Amino acid sequence: MDALPESLPSPDLAALAHALGPLAPAFAIRWAETCDSTNSALLEAPPENDGKIHVLAATRQTAGRGRRGRQWLAWPGASLTFSALWRFTPAASAPAGLSLAVGLALARALEKLGVAAVALKWPNDVLAHGAKLAGVLVELLPGRRAAPAAVIGIGLNLRLPAEAVIPGQPGGVTDLAREMAGPPAREPVLAAILAELHPTLATYERAGFGLLKNAWQQRNAFANLPVRVSGEGADIAGICLGADEDGALLVRDATGVRRVLAGEVSLRPAAP
Ligand code: BTN
Repeated sequence: MDALPESLPSPDLAALAHALGPLAPAFAIRWAETCDSTNSALLEAPPENDGKIHVLAATRQTAGRGRRGRQWLAWPGASLTFSALWRFTPAASAPAGLSLAVGLALARALEKLGVAAVALKWPNDVLAHGAKLAGVLVELLPGRRAAPAAVIGIGLNLRLPAEAVIPGQPGGVTDLAREMAGPPAREPVLAAILAELHPTLATYERAGFGLLKNAWQQRNAFANLPVRVSGEGADIAGICLGADEDGALLVRDATGVRRVLAGEVSLRPAAP
């Protein structure tokens, strides 16, 4: 991997809007130089509902958060980090399987950018050639609001430093620089992801995760493979059958088909 830049040029928001094309007016995008966590910032001060999807990207996060209380580690220029505040129609029920839908949109965007061997690891890691390329952290906005709203946080490895050590990843980690011959700048990458999130979440909102399930299953990294699920009192070893209509993981063990809800659990490959 190449040496990392000490500082990055300011993001080119005009290039971002240009890459979004007709979808640009649907988004209100801010790009901060530094932020503790883009998820925390949107959760703590959600922008007024003006009908747009508010996106906050940060060149550097000082306290980026991952699932299961982990950190999203930061090095200059190493990753694309942003969050989107998604407001659902007032009639929408509690979002089930939302983080899987987001993972699917991310996978589709990466495929369109030319990344090969993209797969999804339940509930919401995106892998390339078996190694983690991106992660998703979905958090619901608290309170009794007219419509449910979620902060969708995405971290995508762009160019990890050679010395980067990211614990807890059995398949290792990878970045876009490794997965693409000439990785594009961060603006078109963000535009590609937002352009895929928009229709995928429109489908999700209309029909729930059920309509996206097949597309998710096609990319399931552990389809029909032995896995071990642990955490939150669960310790299940069995064959991964994929995702249920509501995004729960289905694992077949000696007792039958078990459903695992996406909480603070981890999924790992298990020896056959
Ligand atoms: C994971 O893999 O555990 C999820 C990682 C999510 C990281 C992103 S980076 C942008 C947003 N802000 C955060 O603090 N976390 C998410």
